[in-house]
Amino acid sequence: SRPSILVARQVFPEVVDKLRQHFDVDTNEDDAPLDAAQLVARLQGKVGVITTGSERVDAALVTACPQLRIVANIAVGYNNFDLPAITAAGILASNTPDVLTETTADFGFALLLATARRLTESEHFLRAGQWNRWALDMFAGAEVNGSTLGILGMGRIGQAIARRGAHGFNMNVIYHNRSQLDATTEAECKARYVSKEELLKTSDHLILVLPYSASSHHAIGATEIAQMKPTATLVNIARGGIVDDAALAAALREKRIAAAGLDVFEGEPRVHPDLLAVPNIVLTPHIASATIATRKAMAHLAADNVIAYLTEGKTVTPLNPEVAGKR
Ligand code: GLV
Ligand code: GLV
Repeated sequence: SRPSILVARQVFPEVVDKLRQHFDVDTNEDDAPLDAAQLVARLQGKVGVITTGSERVDAALVTACPQLRIVANIAVGYNNFDLPAITAAGILASNTPDVLTETTADFGFALLLATARRLTESEHFLRAGQWNRWALDMFAGAEVNGSTLGILGMGRIGQAIARRGAHGFNMNVIYHNRSQLDATTEAECKARYVSKEELLKTSDHLILVLPYSASSHHAIGATEIAQMKPTATLVNIARGGIVDDAALAAALREKRIAAAGLDVFEGEPRVHPDLLAVPNIVLTPHIASATIATRKAMAHLAADNVIAYLTEGKTVTPLNPEVAGKR
């Protein structure tokens, strides 16, 4: 009989059809996120699973699913995976890099512009019927063109944002990262490496694009916000938990920074009530990679990882290529 796999959340029908050419495919028809016990139950006898950020794959799960050979995440971030535990179990893990880079950078810029120029705040005002007369300083925001753009986390997406800022908006681009880029990439991005302290102190607009891990937890908290300019904009398209949401809400309320744009939240889909209570914020529900073309490309790439590995033992975008063939 054919190998069985699980697709843990709804994906495009064409992706399921492609998988069904090779496997018996169990799908999650009502698309409700599966909790740990449900996921383990559904994975019995299965050799592969396609996950999203809403499924956690940890030591308990891999121990309880001895037949599992591959876990393919439809996301570039993989903090829902305990990668050391998955690797120790000899299971291949994959993510979806590259296919979402430019789309996600576009959204980072959309959120930056919306936040600096007070797009949603002004729309709420208009929709509420409060626009009785025009005024010279109405919703006057922060300049984007020619300003200083700070990027924390300079992977592929950070670099794509740097290029937009430098080449499209004539911005002075500075960045901080665990390691400095090579000179050629820095020149192409027109980006200058600075310390985290200088980044916080001199950015007019600070955008976060670093992966979540124990070491990036609350990388932006009360102490860091206190170093920022009172006129600054903060944008997070990386992961919830990188920003201390309660500290950010307090800073926005007290106008210690001008505004924030958030696509990701600690404990999402819940949103800290204090964030909902401040006006100088733009909030979106984790949609930075959400164009139809890119979401399809991500789902296809996850499926291609599963098909290549289970049918030919080949890896496409593996996170732990060293385990290939162990299970
Ligand atoms: C989305 O957040 C992703 O990591 O792709
Ligand atoms: C992260 O992997 C990125 O592409 O920035």
